[in-house]
Amino acid sequence: MTDLSEKMKGFVFNLDGVIVDTAKYHYRAWRRLADEMGVDFPIEQHEQLRSLSRMESLEKILEWGGLYMTEAEKLHWADVKNNWYQGLIANMSPEEVLPGVLPFLMEVRRSGGRTALSSASRNARAVLASTQLEPYFDVILDGSAARKSKPHPECFQLAAAALDLPPAECIVFDDAVLGVQAARIGGFHIVGIGNPEDLPAAELVISGFENYRLADILEAVEKLASTEHIG
Ligand code: G6P
Repeated sequence: MTDLSEKMKGFVFNLDGVIVDTAKYHYRAWRRLADEMGVDFPIEQHEQLRSLSRMESLEKILEWGGLYMTEAEKLHWADVKNNWYQGLIANMSPEEVLPGVLPFLMEVRRSGGRTALSSASRNARAVLASTQLEPYFDVILDGSAARKSKPHPECFQLAAAALDLPPAECIVFDDAVLGVQAARIGGFHIVGIGNPEDLPAAELVISGFENYRLADILEAVEKLASTEHIG
């Protein structure tokens, strides 16, 4: 069993792109909406919506298409997109949990670490339920928890408070630039999920959890933390 260091006790995970690949479902639902509105929306552009709230995402698509909508129309279409999205995630199964995530969560908990899920998605609980991941988190915060969007660190601060730990004793795992920025601003340790060139502000970037044990991550983060001052 890995001994958790004195310094790192909390593990805060973003959901979309870190635990499960729901981005493909978000894209399908937004794409359907963009098609209806005649807006060109290639998959590469969807990268720019990572971590944005539902309404912020809709506003971006409208901006790209040069379209205007009243607030009431925006609420209506955001709701339509959400219904399509919910139809897509309804049939998710535990097999869709990304490789290595479950063993990593189990190892963290066996080692005495506390785990939090912090997502900007209001559908986070539904995704956790259909993938049977709820029991692996001590704290679950969905998109209804934080009032400020990333890069404001509120979502992670709420998670740390619920875990009863200071940010400096927590590692955030996030796949998006905005999430990495939020963690840095909040004084958290941050492990990026993805490509190092896309997430230069992360302390450590891994492609996923598949080839990592808890000890590897703790060692790398602590080594970096001792050579730089985060905050
Ligand atoms: C996450 C995803 C975004 C999504 C947002 C809101 O941050 O990365 O793509 O727009 O959650 O999700 P929701 O399920 O509430 O529409």
